[in-house]
Amino acid sequence: MKLIEVKDYQEMSQVAADYLLSKVKKSKNVTLGLATGGTPQGLYEVLIHDHQQNGTSYQYVSSFNLDEYIGLSGKHPNSYYHYMNDNLFKHIDIDSENTHIPSGKAADPAKECEAYDEKIRSHGGIDLQILGIGSNGHIGFNEPGTSFESNTHIVELAESTREANARYFDSIDDVPTHAITMGISSIMKSKEILLLVSGEAKQAAMKKLVEGKISEDFPASILNQHDHVTVIADEEALALVKGLEFLNR
Ligand code: F6R
Repeated sequence: MKLIEVKDYQEMSQVAADYLLSKVKKSKNVTLGLATGGTPQGLYEVLIHDHQQNGTSYQYVSSFNLDEYIGLSGKHPNSYYHYMNDNLFKHIDIDSENTHIPSGKAADPAKECEAYDEKIRSHGGIDLQILGIGSNGHIGFNEPGTSFESNTHIVELAESTREANARYFDSIDDVPTHAITMGISSIMKSKEILLLVSGEAKQAAMKKLVEGKISEDFPASILNQHDHVTVIADEEALALVKGLEFLNR
């Protein structure tokens, strides 16, 4: 696991964008794994700015999002489908046919999960997966206790996750209770992973991650077993791990 330490959220977003852009420029038809939430918003802003200023093209890029709430249609303002269009897709030249997000309204969610993994496989897998981390260590919506062997599946969201995401809804009662998420095994099949960590709320998670004890109770810990993970973390997120000897092992 390689760590890039940055000053703040802004620098994290810029460094992540540079990283992602280098992949897009090197291989036009790269397959990206994308995340939602507060963490990658700054990254997406930099990508949009770069597209407008420098014309970087996403014409042949494909993307797969990590997750979607069950019960929300793509039109719902809090669906991740809506988030991705609003925060990135509609501002760049990516072909909507090439963007993939699990459907929160699938008639048969279990079938939707299987089909999603199959679609990723048929694209030759994810070249670069962008991840954020929950304060409880979740990646995607894989909450503590999720099997490391899990493929894309349906999850019941932890109360702490619903509370953290209630900021986007009118009230916590409106936050869906279930979601479809790429599984841990699906995520670990990505050829490369970029984990973004920013802010005080992630300090404890960051500490646990770098302490390196691998346990299903802390889903992100599995990233210690992936050969090609880069963590970009800001000073605030790293506050509890300063001085620990763990980095870049
Ligand atoms: C989002 C996702 C989640 C978030 C995590 C952190 O698609 O899968 O794992 O990355 O909940 O959320 P933020 O970035 O809002 O702190």
